[in-house]
Formats: sequence, C-alpha cells, structure tokens
Amino acid sequence: MRKVMFILTLMLSVMAVQAKTLIVYYSYTNNVHRIVGELSKQIEADVVRIEPAEKGLDYAANNYAIGSAQIAAIRNNPGDASSYPAIDPVNVNLAEYNCIIIAAPLWWSNMASPLQSYLFHNGAAMTGKKIGLIVSSASSGISAVEGDAKRLIPNGDFLAPSLWIRSAQTSNAASMLSEWLKTIKYSDLSGIENISPDGSNPTYTVFNLGGQLLGSNVESLQNLESGVYIVNGKKIYLNN
Ligand SMILES: Cc1cc2nc3c(=O)[nH]c(=O)nc-3n(C[C@H](O)[C@H](O)[C@H](O)COP(=O)(O)O)c2cc1C
Repeated sequence: MRKVMFILTLMLSVMAVQAKTLIVYYSYTNNVHRIVGELSKQIEADVVRIEPAEKGLDYAANNYAIGSAQIAAIRNNPGDASSYPAIDPVNVNLAEYNCIIIAAPLWWSNMASPLQSYLFHNGAAMTGKKIGLIVSSASSGISAVEGDAKRLIPNGDFLAPSLWIRSAQTSNAASMLSEWLKTIKYSDLSGIENISPDGSNPTYTVFNLGGQLLGSNVESLQNLESGVYIVNGKKIYLNN
C-alpha cells in the first residue's frame, strides 16, 4: 500500500510540471494563419488570434495606406497607448503558460500593428517566459520585428533564432517549422524528461527564480504555488 501511494505521488508530481505553450498571432491575408495551423499540428498549444476592433479595414488599399499610418503612429510615439489600434478583448490567462510563440506579419519592416497592440498591453505579463518569434514577410528582413518584440516584452526569455518564413514559402511552413523547433530545442522546454525519475528514489532540487532553494524532494514540488521554478537545473512552469 505504501509503495502504491508513493508511485501515485510520483505520477502526480510529474504531471504537475507539464509545460504549457500559447501561440498568439495576427493575420490579415492568412499566411500567418496557415503557418499557425501547421505549428498546431506539431506541438501542443493553445492558440489566440488577435483581431482589430475596427472591422472591414483594407490595410492594403492605396499602397497599404492604413497599415502604413498605423505603423508610423507607433514609430512616432511607441510609449503612448493611443498610438496602438484598438483590438478585440482577448480572454487568456498568461500566468498559465511558460512558453509563448508570437506569429506576426511584417508591415513596413515592423510587427503588424494589431499584434503590437496586444503586446503593448500584455508584454509585461510575459516576464521570464520563453518567447519564440515567427515572422512572415513578402521579402523584407525581420530584424525590426524582433526589435518590436523585445521592446514590447522587455523581460521575455527569447528563443534564438526567430523563424522567418517569406510569403512565397508559406506552403513549406511544415518543414521549416519542424526544423526550427529542433533548432530552438523546443522539446527540452517541457522539462518533463529532465525531471522524470529514473530510479526508485528521485530527487527534485527546486529553486525559485531568485535562486533560493525551496526543497529537494517530491513534497517540495507539491507544496508550491503554480509558477516558474528551476527544477533540477531546468526552468519549468509548475501547474499545481
Ligand atoms: C500594411 C502592410 C504592409 C506590408 N509591408 C511589407 C514590407 O514592408 N515588406 C514586406 O516584405 N512585406 C510587407 N507586407 C507583406 C506581408 O508581410 C506579407 O504578405 C505577409 O505574408 C502577410 O501575412 P498575413 O497573410 O498573415 O497577413 C505588408 C503587408 C501589409 C498588409
């Protein structure tokens, strides 16, 4: 009976440290939408699509005039909330996720404005989380979009490199994504393999992000609040 209880306790602990990923994206002409569709087949993740509050805008009309004006407003005054276009409310609890993948169209070298709006209001809540960035553009390079992401999520733990998929490569997204996931070692982020017990007497050395030792056994995991911890040398999200 004691042994059964111990194994049960162990299983609960291992389940408890399962990591969660959120994909946040915006897409006007659905290239990023297709990319996210492929990504969702390859990883377990919740998905949120950002939508501008104002419907029916043609961002491409008159040589992309509306998109251009929105990007210019942000460039001119990036610290002012009124520079960012309104978006529909987003119902997601960022505290549940330890990895967030941002998938963005590029507009005039920058991140498309509706996605910037979301990050302007929520980037601070992504502190300490793993952040992956995927950018779709017709041809322009993505360094300014990376700059936007880092400005809007100043304390994100960015995964390098970002993934750049040109519009014409959208149909190759599946293979580009699987290569990218290997490059950023996405499978290591779950932490599950790294803390699974390999014997009958597992130890879990648990630190908080401030470097304080919180314990070194199964119980020390079970008694913690949900959040990000360093368990056996790996940063993981503990979902208790
Ligand atoms: C307003 C606007 C501005 C754009 N500016 C650029 C640009 O400067 N350089 C570029 O290579 N592509 C630019 N594009 C093209 C998009 O980055 C590209 O089509 C992307 O795949 C769109 O993703 P989506 O289909 O998910 O909206 C722009 C598109 C729009 C709508």
